[in-house]
Amino acid sequence: MKFDVAIIGSGLAGLSVALHLAQSRKVAVISKRSLLDGASNWAQGGIAAVLDSRDSAEQHISDTLIAGAGLCDEGATRYIVEHGRAAIDWLIQQGVPFTRDPTAELGYHLTREGGHSQRRIIHAADATGHAVQVTLERQARSHPNITILENHIAIDVIKSDRVTPGIGNPRCVGVYVQDIDSGKVITLAADQTVLATGGAGKVYLYTTNPDTATGDGIAMAWRAGCRVANMEFIQFHPTCLYHPYAKSFLISEAVRGEGGVLKLPAQAGAAAGKRFMPEHDERGELAPRDVVARAIDFEMKKRGLDYVDLDISHQSPEFLKEHFPTIYARCMEFGIDITRQPIPVVPAAHYTCGGVVTDMHGRTDLPGLYAVGETAYTGLHGANRLASNSLLECLVLGRAAAQDIERQPTPKQMSLPAWDESRVTDADEEVVIAHNWDELRRSMWNYVGIVRTTKRLERAQHRLRLLKEEIYEYYSHFRITPDLLELRNLVDVASLIVDSALSRRESRGLHFSQDYPDTLPKALPTVLTPAGKQA
Ligand code: FAD
Ligand code: SIN
Repeated sequence: MKFDVAIIGSGLAGLSVALHLAQSRKVAVISKRSLLDGASNWAQGGIAAVLDSRDSAEQHISDTLIAGAGLCDEGATRYIVEHGRAAIDWLIQQGVPFTRDPTAELGYHLTREGGHSQRRIIHAADATGHAVQVTLERQARSHPNITILENHIAIDVIKSDRVTPGIGNPRCVGVYVQDIDSGKVITLAADQTVLATGGAGKVYLYTTNPDTATGDGIAMAWRAGCRVANMEFIQFHPTCLYHPYAKSFLISEAVRGEGGVLKLPAQAGAAAGKRFMPEHDERGELAPRDVVARAIDFEMKKRGLDYVDLDISHQSPEFLKEHFPTIYARCMEFGIDITRQPIPVVPAAHYTCGGVVTDMHGRTDLPGLYAVGETAYTGLHGANRLASNSLLECLVLGRAAAQDIERQPTPKQMSLPAWDESRVTDADEEVVIAHNWDELRRSMWNYVGIVRTTKRLERAQHRLRLLKEEIYEYYSHFRITPDLLELRNLVDVASLIVDSALSRRESRGLHFSQDYPDTLPKALPTVLTPAGKQA
């Protein structure tokens, strides 16, 4: 197969690039499940942008820099924030049904989330991502220049030095993709390839993320020789629903933005019902996420609690049903009436702040390879992402990458080698894969969580080394399956997280180490370079 551009991932990042490019290029959108499977479709709170004259780019930039704990790239932050309004206008033009408010300047309701000094989150009730994704999906499916390959999983990008050994300055010339239904591997040639594969929440046992979030793009770029940065900064969302049958259901930060308070649950005995956030931070429930997640973790560990309560029952039932219809309905399914009862919540892995190093055009270190969205590291999120800045980043960088791709000359065509299966056989012990998935995610949860120590990180590093050896050996002997491909990516990404965490000898933002509790005066990103690529 040959396309002008191969886009791996159909979340907001992938679809933004595809739709901006489709006027001038033939593009393929490769998605390992259905087009809508991914974090974008699950986004609840909304998209941060300056949409009211009482707000300003300077305030949005300042809030982002404060949340990022000194580690945001100010130039990147300015670029993304200043392009926010245009990105929202584009979504409105595409037909996204954002929640309206006739009294607001722009006619749309703006909500508030932790770390934001203003109401600046445009949303579609509490299911913003779904509203955006179904709108863009419709456009993408009907566009003659967009070919959608669902149930196709990208394995690795192809570099030109694999085609012509010894050539200088290799570039990305395409990608190997497995058709999951037939098991066949396709060699897909492309002038430009875009990694838009989302984050890596599945590295952890408990996560708000969908099953697709296995860090595939980060692992692929790393194996292709690209630098990866700030992987120690994994954001734990403070409020994931705690219920034995509720797999990964987020309770949006907008619930706290609209007055929800965190309280100790009945399990806390005499202290039950006590609001605890003011003791941890003067901003209370609206402190940035790292602060709130650590406070919950502290109270749970100190008092031996399974969860804490999030209470918004003081708001009227009409208000709650209008603003949080999805959360209301989902909690009701589990017998929790949020209009009368508090919601049991726990922190869970939510967002990968680091990723593949890119510039402001989405370009990675490998010519012909771009990375956009949660897979990428642009410098916007620093040591802690400000709520609702990620969908904004997908939109702004999606357009910037598309514009850059349009400016590129067509590279010389090459005939690419087919996938070689001559030395592998069918797997004989699939249980190894299931076991290693579980061990990896448990180790990361237990040893590389919200509060870290060097000893626990070293333990994780040791286990990951053993797992990596076993997984790579399995990969080289047996025919690939999606589970094996994802496991290989998870172990690569988990190792990058642990190596980055061990190299940071301070506490900053989302990385809190009991051995290095202080913050160093100078903020520096952690940039890892693949072996053999050091300058
Ligand atoms: P995704 O939307 O995750 O898309 C990744 C795509 O890549 C998927 O289509 C996936 O199938 C595909 N893929 C992955 N690997 C491969 C492979 N190997 N081959 C082929 N395809 C592959 N952010 C906000 O700004 N506001 C919010 O309100 C908000 N709420 C959130 C709520 C939840 C529950 C979660 C989990 C996240 C939330 N976030 C929010 C974060 C935000 O949703 C994500 O950062 C953003 O959607 C990432 O978009 P993306 O396009 O980079 O990745
Ligand atoms: C939420 O709605 O709390 C998620 C917002 C985000 O992750 O940016």
